[in-house]
Amino acid sequence: MLELKKLIEELPKAELHLHIEGSLEPELMFTLAKRNNLDLPYASVEEIREAYNFNQLQDFLDIYYAGMSVLITEQDFYDLTMEYLQKCHQQNVRHVEIFFDPQGHTERGVTFATAITGINRALDDGLANFGISYKTIMCFLRHLSEENAFQTLNEAKEFIALIDGVGLDSSEVGNPPSKFQRVFAEAKSLGLKLVAHAGEEGPPSYVEEALALLKIDRLDHGNRAMESEALIKQLKKEHIALTVCPLSNLKLCVVDDLKDHPMREMLDQGLLATVNSDDPSYFGGYLNENFFALQESLDLSKEHIVTLIKNSFIGSFLSLDEKTNYLLEIDRHLAQQQSS
Ligand code: ADE
Ligand code: ZN
Repeated sequence: MLELKKLIEELPKAELHLHIEGSLEPELMFTLAKRNNLDLPYASVEEIREAYNFNQLQDFLDIYYAGMSVLITEQDFYDLTMEYLQKCHQQNVRHVEIFFDPQGHTERGVTFATAITGINRALDDGLANFGISYKTIMCFLRHLSEENAFQTLNEAKEFIALIDGVGLDSSEVGNPPSKFQRVFAEAKSLGLKLVAHAGEEGPPSYVEEALALLKIDRLDHGNRAMESEALIKQLKKEHIALTVCPLSNLKLCVVDDLKDHPMREMLDQGLLATVNSDDPSYFGGYLNENFFALQESLDLSKEHIVTLIKNSFIGSFLSLDEKTNYLLEIDRHLAQQQSS
């Protein structure tokens, strides 16, 4: 176990499912509230953490949207992103593909430009100072209308050079992927990669829609795809990576116990599954903590861990050359470890 923990810590890793607004730690929330003269409905950092008890996705989303309201200036978005990148640096996360929720900001009067320029400036500094490569994925909030999503895509056009893909998040049940079929078709025509949350709480048919109608390149969560033999077969055949989030699944009651988590089954079935932290500040752990918890609960082997870490690069939107370099680095590390 100790040896596996060390391996998880030492190997280079990629994170492919991370909402930057979900990395807002209570301490920074207080700092930003003070800086922006805002009142928080909490008296202390401890009180905030105590509020993070969720029975389902919507309980979390309500608190998550309230929390992000302290993000006002470009510097706020920079500070938020830089804190996350510092955690990545500590945990040897070498490549990140981060989500942001522009509508969570434009809806309350903060411009698209403010959010994206602050996030992007931090990502550039993270690359320069820590060598962390990155992609940026803008998510549409699925509880809002198709029209609102189109407006957001239009606003994004001015910043298209800073955006690599679009995603779909927020309240899943009742907001099927089909609602955004036309928006995703336009995003694809702009050359953007496509991902969507599906099968987190929603039924397997939402995963089917995400594949058939949205034509996603990667699936976020996908837990409930495991209920369908046909879907498992399709995901495997089309080499669709799954960005799975163990501690998030536990906190949002997608699983009752990590011992019941479908990750082992996903790997046994040969799916391209990856480990991610989703909203680490709200769910109690960054990438390494997700690996530790999953390894312990499912008694994962060294081979499982290496597969998951390699999958994080294979399933990324890096070029083939870049992926190969990271995979070679992992193999070199493993060979060195064996010979010492
Ligand atoms: N937004 C942030 N985290 C999310 C999650 N796990 N599911 C749906 N929307 C989200
Ligand atoms: Zn998510």
